[in-house]
Amino acid sequence: MYDVNKVMTSRASRRGVLKGGAALGIGTLGLGPLGSRLAAAQAEDKLEIFSWWTSPGESKALQALFDAFTAANPGVEVVNSTVAGGGGVNAKAVLQTRLQGGQPPDSWQTHVGRELVDLYVVPGSCEPITDIYESEGWTDVIPADLVEQATWESEKYSIPVGVHRGNGFFYNKSIMDDNGIEVGDTMSVDEFFAAADTLKAAGIPALAFGNSEGFPGAQTFENTLLGVAGPETYSALFRGETPWDDQAAREAAETYAKMLDYVNEDFSALVWSDAIALVIEGKAGFNSMGDWAYGEVLAKDAQDNIGWVSHPGSDGSFVLVVDSFTLPVGAPHPENARNWIITLGSKEAQEAFNPLKGSIPARTDANRDLFSPYHQWSMDSFSNDALVPSAAHSQATSPAFQQAFYDASTAFVTDKDVDTFLALLDDAAAMDAEETS
Ligand code: BGC
Repeated sequence: MYDVNKVMTSRASRRGVLKGGAALGIGTLGLGPLGSRLAAAQAEDKLEIFSWWTSPGESKALQALFDAFTAANPGVEVVNSTVAGGGGVNAKAVLQTRLQGGQPPDSWQTHVGRELVDLYVVPGSCEPITDIYESEGWTDVIPADLVEQATWESEKYSIPVGVHRGNGFFYNKSIMDDNGIEVGDTMSVDEFFAAADTLKAAGIPALAFGNSEGFPGAQTFENTLLGVAGPETYSALFRGETPWDDQAAREAAETYAKMLDYVNEDFSALVWSDAIALVIEGKAGFNSMGDWAYGEVLAKDAQDNIGWVSHPGSDGSFVLVVDSFTLPVGAPHPENARNWIITLGSKEAQEAFNPLKGSIPARTDANRDLFSPYHQWSMDSFSNDALVPSAAHSQATSPAFQQAFYDASTAFVTDKDVDTFLALLDDAAAMDAEETS
């Protein structure tokens, strides 16, 4: 549960640290004006940003945020601390060690929803930024549902910088043309299997898959669940309201098992960006992935040959994967950290970052003309479709559920044991319910 005392204690001790810093400042006065200027420069002129954005598309987009920050804060050195690993599989563990050791960066990447709240807000690692929301007028331009997912007990704790659509299904147009497969504006599960059989007969893996980091297995299942069961059942399952032995969940697991018959053989050695690369390079037909994969398409200038639909059956729904950044308790450079947050919420930064990242701005006032046809399609989906949070990216469910979900899906992609898979998800849901009660 939320421990106000813990948060208050850590804030109080931070004030103590600042007091101690001021005392040190008096000491440096003894070095004369040069000494105090140097001390101020060392203390003030850096900004360490922590994320897992290391792929070509991700790093280009991150650089656009740095450039926006630097334009508004010239002279501040930006330190780019990244830990590779899709979905944050490694970064989140490294960050925990740093937080436990009292060494936070100046801001870190997190998904809104359960990841933000369970991992960082409740343990007392984040300062509220409600005052910045007010001074920047963000509640007027960011949809209330998104703001809500960055809020805990009436305080706002992170600024969403981009909204990914998790249920993308990207495909190589030449492969489809060469094999006489017509892809329309949507694709049903049956249409996918028909196309997959055609590609299989031609010796081409229909579904590019790279699961060495665990999250794509979970993500492809949640997309399949959405496509087979629809947004209401999807949400009820992840909220723990429907048990996982539900018939629709079983049908989704069976469909997923069947889809796995069409993946590239080396999937357990590849990461998510390798999988979209297979599609870009004409070595596989489709890739089910969040639209950071479209960021790779853009970074490789491959947009002419890459088409998209929603993951089979999931048209009309939008799986939310929302990246945001925090203001830590005890940020080493608090002023710069606040200015970073202000930059991220700005129209300019969101208009610079999202066209490269594949996501759409969290702000609704961005200039649509700056975005690719894919982005415009996603913007329309965001406005019109059912919005459901991702469990693979820990927005819908707790980080503990997410880990169990990764483990269960990693086993499933090899053993395809539907009963065990559903039983493991049921156990994870029960554990989740216990934790949140
Ligand atoms: C993040 C994306 C990132 C993807 C792959 C997701 O969890 O929200 O920003 O590109 O992981 O690393």
